[in-house]
Amino acid sequence: MELFGATAFSWTHSISPSLHIPLPFSNCETRRFRVWCSSDQTQKMTVSVTGATGFIGRRLVQRLHADNHHVRVLTRSRSKAELIFPVKNFPGIVIAEEPEWKDCIHGSNGVVNLAGLPISTRWSSEVKGEIKESRVRVTSKVVDLINDAPHAVRPTVLVSATAVGYYGSSETQVFDEQSPSGNDYLAEVCREWEATALRVNKDVRLALIRIGVVLGKDGGALAKMIPLFMMFAGGPLGSGKQWFSWIHLDDIVNLIYEALSNPSYKGVINGTAPNPVRLTEMCEQLGNVMGRPSWLPVPDLALKAVLGEGASVVLEGQRVLPARAKELGFPFKYPYVKDALKAIIS
Ligand SMILES: NC(=O)c1ccc[n+]([C@@H]2O[C@H](COP(=O)([O-])OP(=O)(O)OC[C@H]3O[C@@H](n4cnc5c(N)ncnc54)[C@H](OP(=O)(O)O)[C@@H]3O)[C@@H](O)[C@H]2O)c1
Repeated sequence: MELFGATAFSWTHSISPSLHIPLPFSNCETRRFRVWCSSDQTQKMTVSVTGATGFIGRRLVQRLHADNHHVRVLTRSRSKAELIFPVKNFPGIVIAEEPEWKDCIHGSNGVVNLAGLPISTRWSSEVKGEIKESRVRVTSKVVDLINDAPHAVRPTVLVSATAVGYYGSSETQVFDEQSPSGNDYLAEVCREWEATALRVNKDVRLALIRIGVVLGKDGGALAKMIPLFMMFAGGPLGSGKQWFSWIHLDDIVNLIYEALSNPSYKGVINGTAPNPVRLTEMCEQLGNVMGRPSWLPVPDLALKAVLGEGASVVLEGQRVLPARAKELGFPFKYPYVKDALKAIIS
């Protein structure tokens, strides 16, 4: 199957009696990689996803399911996941709580790892601990389950989330995948998160996606920023000079999807749009799209009241360029923030 111009492989699967995982392949498949031989010429993947119930994960699962791939939702709460992915809309999706993750991962072709406590909260020392621990713990579990899988049922690719917070913040520097890590708390979280994913066996292709601020309709930073922006009639946030490395939800989902199926996608890949903006511009564009003038600056304090210390992601930004994605020829649907915001808000 062609996924955004890339040639995909076909995959194997395992059968889990306890989970009644549906069989994705006909018996024409006999080895790990071979060309899919169904009459419709499509190649189906079986993909396990942690954090599937979140802002990015939900959209990814919808995409994979719509394209008839087999999705295994790895969650902490079956009841929450069943509400998000009701069986009538998502027939065939497997929902698994932690004790069942092994049965899901073994036999999946790929694993996407998105889980972690949201960072846009108030950062008490306990919360800070949990922000890091939740990511390292889930990633470690996923990596161990992949590494322990017998070769025949071992996933061949792990796409693991990390964040542009890796680079620290700066109003002047430009960061790409070669840039060193920063010195602040989020940089430390990202380093440990990535180091944990890097423990995956070398025969498993690892794509580490350093995600920027994801813009989408029903969640993420924008959903929290818009009411605040409305309240202050929409001015810049904080000084306005900070860089805002954003990406539209559709593009981050497409990038993850592509990384699953395209063997060229490996190592660190920045998940940001090619044209980051200063926050002043972001707010101006948001004002235009919402039909509101941009005239009062939104004070740092107000933003912190909504986003907690997690506001630092917006208030202390960084200019991150997607050098690898561009080299790989990834087709951004929304390279410019104006078009991204129009698509989201209209
Ligand atoms: N959205 C962004 O702008 C952005 C930017 C940079 C990086 N990222 C990273 O990309 C990943 C996905 O982002 P997202 O916005 O989709 O996240 P999200 O909406 O906050 O969802 C994350 C998922 O992680 C699981 N989770 C929450 N707390 C957890 C905990 N304490 N321990 C283990 N799992 C927990 C939940 O799944 P279950 O309840 O089903 O287990 C939740 O649905 C995150 O790791 C995030 O840090 C996101």
